[in-house]
Amino acid sequence: MLVKSFIALAACTRFARAVPYPHDSTSRVLPRAANSTTCPGYTATNVDVTDSGLTADLTLAGTACNAYSEDLQELKLVVEHQTDDRLHVKIFDAGLNMFQVQEDVLPRPANGKAASSGAAVRFDITAQPFGFKVIRNSNNETIFDTTGTPLIFEKQYVRLRTNLPKDPNIYGLGEHSDSFRFHTKGYRRSLLNAESINIPNNANLYGSHPVYFDHRGDKGTHGVFMLNSSPMNIDIDQNDAGSQYLEYNAIGGIVDLYFLAGPGPADVSKQYADVVGYSAMYPYWALGFHQCKYGYWDVNMVAEVVANYSTAGIPLEVMWTDIDYMDARQDFTLDPERFPLTKMQELVSTLHSRDQRYVLILDPGVHAFEEVAAYKSGHDLDVFLKAADGTDILGVQWAGAVAWPDWFHPNTQKWWTDEVLSFFDADSGVNIDGIWVDMNEASSFCHDTQTCNSRQKAIDDGIPPKPAFAPRPNTGRPIPGFPSSFQPDSSTKRDLEARQAMGQMKGFADREWFNPAYTVSNHVGGLSDQTIPFNTSNYDGTRQYDTHNLHGHMMALTTQKSMSARRPDVRPFVLTRSTWAGTGRKATHWFGDNASDWEHYRTSIRQMLSFVSMHQMPLVGSDVCGFNGNTNENLCARWAMLGAFQPFYRNHAELSTIQQEFYQWASVAVAAKKAIDTRYKLLDYIYTALYYQTTTGAPIINPLFFLYPEDANTFGIQEQWFYGDALLISPVTTDFSDTVTYYLPNDVFYNYWTLEKVQGAGTNVTETNLTTSDIPVHIRGGSILPMRMNSANTTKALRQEDFSILVAPGTDGSARGRLYLDEGEKIQQSDVSEVEFSFQNGKFTASGSFAYKGAVGESITVAKVLVIGQDKAGATGTFDAATGSVEVQGPWKLDGGFEFQL
Ligand code: NOJ
Repeated sequence: MLVKSFIALAACTRFARAVPYPHDSTSRVLPRAANSTTCPGYTATNVDVTDSGLTADLTLAGTACNAYSEDLQELKLVVEHQTDDRLHVKIFDAGLNMFQVQEDVLPRPANGKAASSGAAVRFDITAQPFGFKVIRNSNNETIFDTTGTPLIFEKQYVRLRTNLPKDPNIYGLGEHSDSFRFHTKGYRRSLLNAESINIPNNANLYGSHPVYFDHRGDKGTHGVFMLNSSPMNIDIDQNDAGSQYLEYNAIGGIVDLYFLAGPGPADVSKQYADVVGYSAMYPYWALGFHQCKYGYWDVNMVAEVVANYSTAGIPLEVMWTDIDYMDARQDFTLDPERFPLTKMQELVSTLHSRDQRYVLILDPGVHAFEEVAAYKSGHDLDVFLKAADGTDILGVQWAGAVAWPDWFHPNTQKWWTDEVLSFFDADSGVNIDGIWVDMNEASSFCHDTQTCNSRQKAIDDGIPPKPAFAPRPNTGRPIPGFPSSFQPDSSTKRDLEARQAMGQMKGFADREWFNPAYTVSNHVGGLSDQTIPFNTSNYDGTRQYDTHNLHGHMMALTTQKSMSARRPDVRPFVLTRSTWAGTGRKATHWFGDNASDWEHYRTSIRQMLSFVSMHQMPLVGSDVCGFNGNTNENLCARWAMLGAFQPFYRNHAELSTIQQEFYQWASVAVAAKKAIDTRYKLLDYIYTALYYQTTTGAPIINPLFFLYPEDANTFGIQEQWFYGDALLISPVTTDFSDTVTYYLPNDVFYNYWTLEKVQGAGTNVTETNLTTSDIPVHIRGGSILPMRMNSANTTKALRQEDFSILVAPGTDGSARGRLYLDEGEKIQQSDVSEVEFSFQNGKFTASGSFAYKGAVGESITVAKVLVIGQDKAGATGTFDAATGSVEVQGPWKLDGGFEFQL
C-alpha cells in the first residue's frame, strides 16, 4: 500500500514532464557584478623566476572593492612547467583559508619540473596591474590572457577573465545538453550538480567538469582545466567593444589552472588524463547490450523481460533492476513479497548460467529510522552528515527521510563496504555484477533546504513516521594532527573553526552559506535547493558549500572500492549519475533523465562527444529510446541503431511510461538485432579502443575535428562522430525522415555496409530511403578493423568466434589498425596481446606481442583478411569485382605474427 501510493505520487509529480525546454542554447544577457568594475586588482612583487617556473606575491593594488564579499589582501602565485606540455598556474590566499580540493578527491599530478626553455608554452607576467599570458612558443599564439581585467579574489567570489580571439571554438565544461561547440555571446555554463529532469538546455546538470578545449585549427588546440569544485558560472561573452572573453566566476575555492598545450585535440585529451587520471578498464561484458526500466514490478517481471529477449532472438547481456527491488525503496533491502531473496538468488544464478549479468541500484540517502539496519550500522560508526546540534542532517529521497553519508568520514568506506559485502554476498545475498549509484548530486525532494522539514515532507509524500534516533552530540572524532586525547567538543562549528585557525585550506568558517551576494545559476532554484544544506560541514572540516559538486564523485569512488573488496580480482563496474573531474578513473556514467524525443536523441550525441573526448569518461551513453514520456516505434528503432555505436548501450525508461524493450515492436526488433549484431562483430575493435583510452588517453569516440583538425567544416559538427577512430557514424536525426545529410571530409571512405569506395570531397552528402534499421557508417581510409566473423547471443559466446580483418586502404594505399586481447574481466592481466596490423605496398603484416592464448573454447584465430578498395586480383586471395575486394583465407592463430603479399 505504502509502496503503491508512493509510486503513484512519483508518477504524477516528480517525473511528470516539466515545461518544454528550448531547442538550443540561445544567447542571453548575463547578469554582471554591479561594482566589480572598481576592483583594484593585484600587484605582483618578489617575482622569483626559476628554470621551470616562478613564484610571486600578489598584493591587493588599492582600496578593496568588496564586490560580493571581502577582498583578500595577500595572495601567492605559483607557476610550474610540470612537463613540456603542461603548465600549472596556481593563485591562492597567503593565509591558506580558501578551500582547496582534497588530495583524496583528485590526487595531484607530479611536477616533473620541465625546463621552461623546452616547454611548449611560456608564461608572461605583468606585475602592475597583475595579469598574465600563456603563449604557445611554436607560433607565438596567445592561448590565455588575463590582462586588462583585474583578478578579483574574495572570500566568496573569485573572478578571472581571459581574452579570446574572435569566434573561438570552445568545447567541454560538462555536464550540459547544449551545443557541442559553445555559443560565443551571452553564453553561461553553470557548474553546480543538480537533479535535472529532462536535462534542460542552458542549465547546470548532474555533473561538473571545469575543463575546456579551445581549438584553433592550424594554430593548435589547447585545454584549460580549473581545479576548483566550488559552484561557478563560466561566462563566454563579448564586451561592449565586441572583444571576446571567457570568465570564471566562482563562489569559492582558488585559481588552480592547468594549461594543456596539445598541439592536437587528442594530445589535449591525453594531457588532461595525465592530470585527472586515466579511465579504469571495464569488463568486456560491459560493452554488451543492457536492459532496464523503473517499474519492473517484481522479480517475475524481470525474469519475463529476460525471457522475452531470448524468445525474440535479441541478445541481452545485462539485466538491471531499479529501486523497485528494495523494500519501500530502502538501500540494502529486498521487498520481501515482490523481490524475495530466494527468488532473487534464482534469478541471478539463472542469468549467470546463461552468461548474462545483473546490476542493481543504490541511492546515497539512507532511510533514517532506527530499525533500518544500514542506518543503524552507519549511525554506530557516525558516518552521517551532522547539523551543528549533532543530529543527522536529513533530506528526502525515495525511501522517505534519509541521512546522508559523509564521504569524507574515515569510517564511511568501511561501513559502505560492509553493507555492500553483506547485502551482495555471493552466497547469502544478491550476487550482482555491477552497481548503479543514482540521485547522488545529492538530490533531495525537499525543495527549500533551509525550511523543509524532511520528516514532515516524507509523511506528506505518504511515508508513515517511525521512531528516530535521539539527537546525538558530535563527539569521538579525532582532530587530525593531534593526539587522540584531543576531542573536538560537541559542536561541529567549533571543530571547524579550530581547524581553520590553522589555515588548512578548508574554506572560511564565516560565510553566507545560502544566499551569497554572488550566486550561481541553478535551474532548480536557489544555490542549495533540493540538496544537502550548504552550511553542513564534512568530517574533514570542509563544507558542502565547497564540496557539493564532489558528492557523486566521492560516492562513486567509495562504491568502486567496495566492489573491489567484493571481487578483488575483477574490474568493478559502477555507473554513476553525478560526476566531477576525474570520476572516469573509477566509474561510468549515463546522461540521466532525458525525454523520449528527437531532441534528446540528438543531445545524446553531443553529450557523448564531450564526455568521452574531453572529460575522460569513455563508457557513457544515454537512456536508449528515452526515459521520460512514452517513446514510439520510429524513435525507438532509430535509437536502437544509434545506441549501438555509443559506448554504453542501455535501454531504460521511467516508471509511468509504456514498456519499451526492443521486442515490443517488430521494426524495433529488426533494428535492434541488426544493431547488436553489428556492434558485437565490432566489439573487439571498440574494446581495443577502450583499452587504449585507459592507457594513452586517446578517445574511444572522436569528434570529427579530432581527426580533421584543420578542416574548419568539422569544428561545429555534433550529429556525426567516429566510433573508435575508423568508423564515421552519420545517423538520421529527425522524426519520420528516411534521409540524412552528413559531412564527408576530403578523404577516402568506404561504405561499411556495401564496402563501396566513396571519395569524400569536404562537402555534404545526402542519403535517402534509409529504413529504421539503416544507419550510414563509413570506414575511414587508412584503417584496419579487427572484427569477429559472426555475432553471438552473449559476449562470452562472441569470444568463440574467429576474427576477420578488414583492410581499408587510404589515399596512399596503406592502412593501420590494432587489436588488444585479454581475458576480459580481471584487473591483473598476466598475458595480453597487442597486435599491430599494417598494410603497405600490398603487404599485410600482423606484428606486436602475442601473450594472450585464449580461454578454453575461445578463438584467437584470424580466419580471413579482406582488403577492400581493390580494382584487380593480386597474387594471393580471391578477387570479388562486385565489392572491389580481395579475400585472403587463413587461418592464422594470433599466437605470433604473420604476413602476406597481396
Ligand atoms: C532517477 C534516475 O535518473 C532514473 O534513471 C531512475 O530510474 C530513477 N531515479 C529511479 O531510481
